[in-house]
Amino acid sequence: MTSAGENTDFGFQQVPLADKQALVDDVFHSVARRYDLMNDLMSGGVHRAWKSALVTAVNPPRSERAFALLDLAGGTGDIAFRTIAASGGGARATVADINADMLAVGRARAIERGLDHAVDFVEANAETLPFADRSYDAVTIAFGIRNVPRIAAALNEAHRVLRLGGRFLCLEFSTVDVPGLDALYDFYSFNVIPALGGTVAGDAEAYRYLVESIRRFPPPDAFAELMRTAGFARVSFQRMTGGIVALHSGWRL
Ligand SMILES: C[S@@+](CC[C@H](N)C(=O)[O-])C[C@H]1O[C@@H](n2cnc3c(N)ncnc32)[C@H](O)[C@@H]1O
Repeated sequence: MTSAGENTDFGFQQVPLADKQALVDDVFHSVARRYDLMNDLMSGGVHRAWKSALVTAVNPPRSERAFALLDLAGGTGDIAFRTIAASGGGARATVADINADMLAVGRARAIERGLDHAVDFVEANAETLPFADRSYDAVTIAFGIRNVPRIAAALNEAHRVLRLGGRFLCLEFSTVDVPGLDALYDFYSFNVIPALGGTVAGDAEAYRYLVESIRRFPPPDAFAELMRTAGFARVSFQRMTGGIVALHSGWRL
């Protein structure tokens, strides 16, 4: 539960809950243009495999059967494009993101790929979605939920807009659980990534926030419990790459 006047994490800082979104928006405004390049550089391209695992779990129909995906905090459109490519032609995606700069990069990429007919880009806050109840077959969020100030509200909204029998999938950085890898990962996160962010995206502080916010995000079983509280059934998760990321799944039944 959150209340007026409450503080929350913004990376390692404590900030008023009401201020967090504007701070997050500044981060993504600053990095939008270099966001996709930075993902490849920071992860050595591995983010592509994590996103492929998410899309495999979405499992869009291989036929022309209609399938509606909502990708929350969808940024520059990666999950939407991959889901449409994996489908037999019937998938349509809505990319909802609070940041107009990220959406603008996504729109341009959709046009480049000839996918603009199949993807809608909507400026929206994941905490208060402008979509009807039970309107999507699947709802995804990749590397987005930890940036949302009121996570419980976003999970409630994801549940509300899913049709009965629909699936929610959340890909997010998680807790490294391999001895040895944790120290290496910390060194890489706190030293290499901000330096890379400074050089490539011109904003080391933005990337410092991004790595700090990973450390503040709940461990996978705690996040699974938040999903159950929001009403999701058959909640499960899988850790990938030694726990660097976790893929959570839940159903609206
Ligand atoms: C790390 S990016 C992830 C983008 C994309 N999903 C991907 O995997 O490449 C996080 C995104 O969350 C968006 N975001 C932050 N807070 C949000 C909110 N309350 N509602 C919707 N989107 C939000 C940001 O604008 C940003 O585009």
